[in-house]
Amino acid sequence: MKLGIIGATGAVGKVFLDLLPKSKLNVSELRLTASERSIGKKIKYNNTDYIIQENSEDFYVGLDYVFSSASAEVSKKAAEKSKKHNAIMIDDSSEFRMNEDVPLVVPEINSESLKSHNGVVAIPNCTTTPLAMILDAVRSEYNLKRVIVDTYQAVSGTGNLAIKELLDQTKHYLDNGTISDKKNVYSHNIGLNLIPHVESPLDNLYTKEEMKMLYETRKILSDPELKISATCVRVPVIRCHSESINIEFDKPPNINQISKILNQYNGITVLDDIKNDLYPTPLFGEGKHDIFIGRLRNDISNENAINLWVVSDNLIKGAALNAIQILEVFEKIG
Ligand code: A2P
Repeated sequence: MKLGIIGATGAVGKVFLDLLPKSKLNVSELRLTASERSIGKKIKYNNTDYIIQENSEDFYVGLDYVFSSASAEVSKKAAEKSKKHNAIMIDDSSEFRMNEDVPLVVPEINSESLKSHNGVVAIPNCTTTPLAMILDAVRSEYNLKRVIVDTYQAVSGTGNLAIKELLDQTKHYLDNGTISDKKNVYSHNIGLNLIPHVESPLDNLYTKEEMKMLYETRKILSDPELKISATCVRVPVIRCHSESINIEFDKPPNINQISKILNQYNGITVLDDIKNDLYPTPLFGEGKHDIFIGRLRNDISNENAINLWVVSDNLIKGAALNAIQILEVFEKIG
């Protein structure tokens, strides 16, 4: 496989390069690109130095696949060049996710949709993927009626600059005992704070991120009527998104059965024993491939509903691993 990575120096790009040698992919040629400021820099991969190349037309010539994790704007231009040179682009941005001819894929759920595409395959938003996996697991036994989800999203979802902003603001407080007045990435301090506002607000007063959770989940599950209401919150955590999810069914659920169904699903591990302090936290989930579920319980306000807590590494299953798994499916189906 001849593979190119766009955004190789970014938060997701680095994790992708970390996971690649441990995957089933046989990469015969690897090309890396990033923004102009990184051209010529070296990145170590499998004990070899790779030089960051310019993101020009030449980069795409002869490639089989491209993984893009930079920005929607970068992906838009990259897709044109990638298609021109007959490469398949796996895209981490939101640019193409809702296009009808672009499969939006979580391999555990809908890998069959990879059979038909126009040269671009999208991976979902990092909060959508764990939600969709959980709903896919439980819908095998229970009809989904309504979902309410609240997210607790790590700053690495915004990229390297956001991680630096969290650390700088926290250090400022530890050094000076005062709140830093420097902020570039978010509209409020993220150090010692949280921000109930992820991505731009829309006319219905939800944010773009919150509506992505609805539209993307519907597309992945092929369930256009599914009802989801999301509130997305950025929290002062470096890595791993957490979500508190309430799912309503059309009949009373058996919580032990649901725990079993979830634990048997590929890529999900249940860690659930609150009396012994057992539940996943972001620090626990960091670096792990599975998504982790705890705090599973009946909803005392609605006999047909359950509550649960999920932690997922936003850079791994939320991005790089999901893309690698898609490439593995492509290699298998040819
Ligand atoms: P660079 O490191 O040179 O700025 P993050 O999500 O962590 O902010 O990273 C974004 C990634 O996208 C970085 O690798 C960044 O490179 C890369 N990038 C930004 N603009 C471009 C571009 N025009 N072409 C390719 N990669 C880009």
